[in-house]
Amino acid sequence: MTSLQSVTPLLSGGAMPVIGLGVYLNDECADACEVALKEGYRMIDSARYYMNEAQVGVGVRRSGIPREEIFITSKIYHHDFGYERAQECIQESVDELGLGYYDLYLIHSPTTGKQKRIETYRALVDAKKNGLVKRIGVSNYSGKHIDEIIEAGLELPDVNQIELHPFCQQRPIVEYCQKKRIAVQAYSPLVTGQLDHDELKRLAKKHYKDEAQILIRWSLQKGYVPLPKSSRPERIKSNAQVFDFELDRHDMDALEALDRGGEGAVTWNPVDEP
Ligand SMILES: NC(=O)c1ccc[n+]([C@@H]2O[C@H](COP(=O)([O-])OP(=O)(O)OC[C@H]3O[C@@H](n4cnc5c(N)ncnc54)[C@H](OP(=O)(O)O)[C@@H]3O)[C@@H](O)[C@H]2O)c1
Repeated sequence: MTSLQSVTPLLSGGAMPVIGLGVYLNDECADACEVALKEGYRMIDSARYYMNEAQVGVGVRRSGIPREEIFITSKIYHHDFGYERAQECIQESVDELGLGYYDLYLIHSPTTGKQKRIETYRALVDAKKNGLVKRIGVSNYSGKHIDEIIEAGLELPDVNQIELHPFCQQRPIVEYCQKKRIAVQAYSPLVTGQLDHDELKRLAKKHYKDEAQILIRWSLQKGYVPLPKSSRPERIKSNAQVFDFELDRHDMDALEALDRGGEGAVTWNPVDEP
């Protein structure tokens, strides 16, 4: 893993870039996408809920980078769960993006119970067969939710996207995914911008980096795929400058020790949904 364009293999075949640009809370995200792609990012993480899929499409087109070199994700929100509604929703999503297909489509959260989760997942499987999406996955799922997919005889998700940073390490979910070779994407890898912490400051000083770069590097070295969000060009650029240093074992141990379990989550983190 040496650059923004490095990739990580996926269970169903193919590969995914090792870092993605998050675009939550950035409804005018075309500029951010364009800047990121020109800086070398090759993955963008959107969702129906973010209401900016068309903006992602605009940014991608403006970048001039060929569609097939870019990996774009969206997610279905629980308002649209259920087989038929999910099918319509995925089509709407692809139409809004305006680039023909999504590389990855996720169930945004396990909210709404087992029956609707499985119906929705079946719609994703069929969207993949129809070429609307290339790969499918889940978000905010714990092992028990993925077990339901296995019990239903459906293909495993390629990705589980969960909140993941040193303060919220979700170890049981990560171990489950690693055993099954499901790639783990780390959302809110910058603790939603709450970077004022002594240990992060110490490591930033030691490595002549900033706190955000320390967190992104931690995620990469753990084997996760971080999705840092920024709408500022200078931060989009600096968040990608993480391939010219390495955290040593002591640094990693110090970050491991910051884990506060579920208490450390700073977002909705609905992994315990029944
Ligand atoms: N699946 C899910 O349920 C879920 C939930 C949450 C997030 N996500 C995904 O994960 C992505 C990232 O998560 P997130 O947006 O919650 O939080 P994040 O990436 O951890 O943090 C974003 C915040 O940090 C600031 N920031 C970015 N770079 C910085 C830097 N170098 N120094 C200081 N501050 C910096 C940003 O402000 P500026 O924009 O002003 O730079 C923004 O306020 C989302 O955009 C979304 O794609 C998914």
